Amino acid sequence: MRQEASRVLLVGGNGFIGSHLIDELLRKGYSVRVLDRNPEIFRKAVPGVEYVTGSFADLFTLREAVEGCDILIHLAHSTVPSTSLNHPEEEVLASVGAFVNMINCFKHKAIGKIVYFSSGGAVYGNPESLPVFEEARAKPISPYGVAKLMMEKYLYMFSYLYGLEYIIVRPSNPFGPRQNYMGEQGVIPIFFRKILDDETISIWGDGKGTKDYLYVEDLAGAVVSLIESGFDKSIYNISSGIGRSLLSIIDNISNICGKRPNIEFVAKRTHDVSNITLSFDKIRNRTGWVPTTTFEDGLIQTFKWIQNTKSNMSK
Ligand SMILES: NC(=O)c1ccc[n+]([C@@H]2O[C@H](COP(=O)([O-])OP(=O)(O)OC[C@H]3O[C@@H](n4cnc5c(N)ncnc54)[C@H](O)[C@@H]3O)[C@@H](O)[C@H]2O)c1
Repeated sequence: MRQEASRVLLVGGNGFIGSHLIDELLRKGYSVRVLDRNPEIFRKAVPGVEYVTGSFADLFTLREAVEGCDILIHLAHSTVPSTSLNHPEEEVLASVGAFVNMINCFKHKAIGKIVYFSSGGAVYGNPESLPVFEEARAKPISPYGVAKLMMEKYLYMFSYLYGLEYIIVRPSNPFGPRQNYMGEQGVIPIFFRKILDDETISIWGDGKGTKDYLYVEDLAGAVVSLIESGFDKSIYNISSGIGRSLLSIIDNISNICGKRPNIEFVAKRTHDVSNITLSFDKIRNRTGWVPTTTFEDGLIQTFKWIQNTKSNMSK
């Protein structure tokens, strides 16, 4: 059932996941505004979307951006697990500090409903059993994972004290078009690019550990299904529920590209979670959502997008 509110502010909406949420929200008839300090990397401004340029840490810009919006989706984050190790203090000072400053503003009801993007891959750490349910103990092993968990707890606290309504989503590993194949995160587009460019793929560890990968359009559909089912102050995994190893993914990608890469195995990184698969029973029971894109179809969509983007960039 559609909530009365229909103008959504995407903070950090010009990134990979935000760009797909923009599409899904517009498709569902929502008005969309984006607050981001950068434009989208891979496409021009989307017609019908209002853009505010700046940082959510700047409260003046934030107040201007939330004006007239009913729902805020918080996607902005400047690190990923590996880069967060270089400056663990920055996680607390920049990401957590700015987030607390932002929701502190909302206790005066500037906006009442928040969707917070946490991380299913990082907050649980190395799970005790699989699949991981939302009630499992969270034992993050990177500064990024700790920061995500802290922000979840602050949201709970502000909600308890001041009545903010929220949904926390813990996505597994999303992949798909517009994920930066030159970036620090996202093995699938990075592997595609390396195979296409005949570069060696480095694997930390033996490549046999399994993780859960989800097509990004399915993730966007899941988030909108939660918004439409109401803000129940709850945490939801969003996942495929299927574990895949890096070696099996390289096989899939090699078949699509028609060539095999050179692989080098390097020492496992201690902050990498070894095996993780998330249960999506909770969201399915609440909204009926299930992932609908097969892994193979998702890979093909990703491959086509990377090929087109690379060829347009070389013109
Ligand atoms: N991509 C993944 O694998 C994954 C998995 C689980 C959770 N998440 C979380 O989902 C969210 C979105 O991920 P993504 O992959 O789209 O990230 P992304 O890096 O592609 O996008 C983040 C966006 O936030 C913007 N941003 C960063 N700091 C900002 C600030 N201070 N003010 C305004 N804008 C700012 C960036 O310019 C960027 O456009 C993040 O919170 C991320 O931690 C991502």
